[in-house]
Amino acid sequence: MAKVYIRTYGCQMNERDSEQVAQMLIARGHAITANAEDADVVLLNTCSVRDLAEQKALGKIGMLGSLSRQRPVVYGLLGCMAQSRGSSLLKDVPHLDLVVGTQKFHRVAEYVEQALNRKASQRWDDVRFSIVDVDEETGSQSTIRDHLVRPQTVSAFVSIMQGCNMHCAFCIVPSTRGEERSRPINEIVAEVEQLAARGVKEVTLLGQIVNLYGRHEFPKMDGKSPFVQLLEAVQEVPGIERIRFTSPHPIGFRQDLIEAFGRLPKLVEHVHLPLQSGSDRILRAMRRTYNRDKYLDLVDRIRATSPDIAITTDIIVGFPGETEDDYRETCELVEQVGFDNAFVFKYSPRRDTVAAELGMQVAETIKEDRNHALLEVVNSWAKRRGEALVGRQVEILCEGPSKTNPERLMGRTRGNKIVVFEGSPRHVGQLLPVRILRSTGYTLYGDPAIHSN
Ligand code: 5AD
Repeated sequence: MAKVYIRTYGCQMNERDSEQVAQMLIARGHAITANAEDADVVLLNTCSVRDLAEQKALGKIGMLGSLSRQRPVVYGLLGCMAQSRGSSLLKDVPHLDLVVGTQKFHRVAEYVEQALNRKASQRWDDVRFSIVDVDEETGSQSTIRDHLVRPQTVSAFVSIMQGCNMHCAFCIVPSTRGEERSRPINEIVAEVEQLAARGVKEVTLLGQIVNLYGRHEFPKMDGKSPFVQLLEAVQEVPGIERIRFTSPHPIGFRQDLIEAFGRLPKLVEHVHLPLQSGSDRILRAMRRTYNRDKYLDLVDRIRATSPDIAITTDIIVGFPGETEDDYRETCELVEQVGFDNAFVFKYSPRRDTVAAELGMQVAETIKEDRNHALLEVVNSWAKRRGEALVGRQVEILCEGPSKTNPERLMGRTRGNKIVVFEGSPRHVGQLLPVRILRSTGYTLYGDPAIHSN
């Protein structure tokens, strides 16, 4: 039995993948530890979407490898950076044993054991196991399906597809996650049913572009896309109270999906709709294939069906060739939509992407300034959207103690806003009506409207 430390970088899909790895290790008798210094196995599940994420993981594995150890330790890099950089990581990180890509998470436990055995049988201080597995694997979209059995888990991620066939000029994901491929609806529903049986009340369906779910595999039915068919099937699972999904692409976000918000009571009023830029010129250079008018029209149509829906987004500043005018158009569009929240990223050139080869790369200081100024616009809207809820009663799903003050509880509204309130342990896992008392930008403070519950 080994003590395994797993650290995750990047998106929710990476979190979900790490959970699968942890679950498989536990099933084979190993234990997960939060203490990297004391671990027999150190696994970092990596992100490649920006250079900073790669540097963080490399820094961490370097630091952990430099600690003096009294026994053999296995070091592994998993996921997107492993996929993208492959065996060259063995050169960059001298003590690295495992490099396991995004289609091979289900093999990690096996490789860890091989590495442990090998190290145990040799002079461990100069043995390196060096296994690199970044191959494609048919059916790997269905291998992320087991969940950790944690009591009081009220919200769970469900992986519905893998890969991406879009060609966004800035994005490394098509090369780290492979071709778009989806799991069948019945498999996903079976997983959701198991989660519900364990007390899970909310599921978040995960994919690189969820609204394109199943388009190669499954037919449309009654004018409904496979994704809408999946939402309908999950809606029918007893015990599940809320359905979220992330992320969709504005392209392929069709009327059947918009109408689902009006029709499926479990589908929450929140959509994360990556904008990337508000300039038509830059959108074209990014190969996003929509323009600002189309994006605004989509927002209008979504709001026409679901007036109170929370809309969040991703924006990149400093894409090659972005002028002050382009940037101003982004700021204007952000004002116009009034997002509930937005992630703003400084453009980071990624290997093997079209944009990395473009001329007119924007200076780091300009990216910094634009990032900072745009965040002010974003924050002021987030504040307004939060304040609009003050005095209102909302439904929250109580997840557990608040991270900032464990004496208090936290939950999320259907619009995904965090609400902190005084409650008791019996509230955990419950849907509660809460009256919002005040708002501080991103956090709301509330009072359970029904104390006797
Ligand atoms: N540089 C900066 N941000 C990026 N993103 C994707 N690729 C890059 C890049 N090269 C952002 C996009 C995407 C989010 C997950 O990360 O906004 O929606």
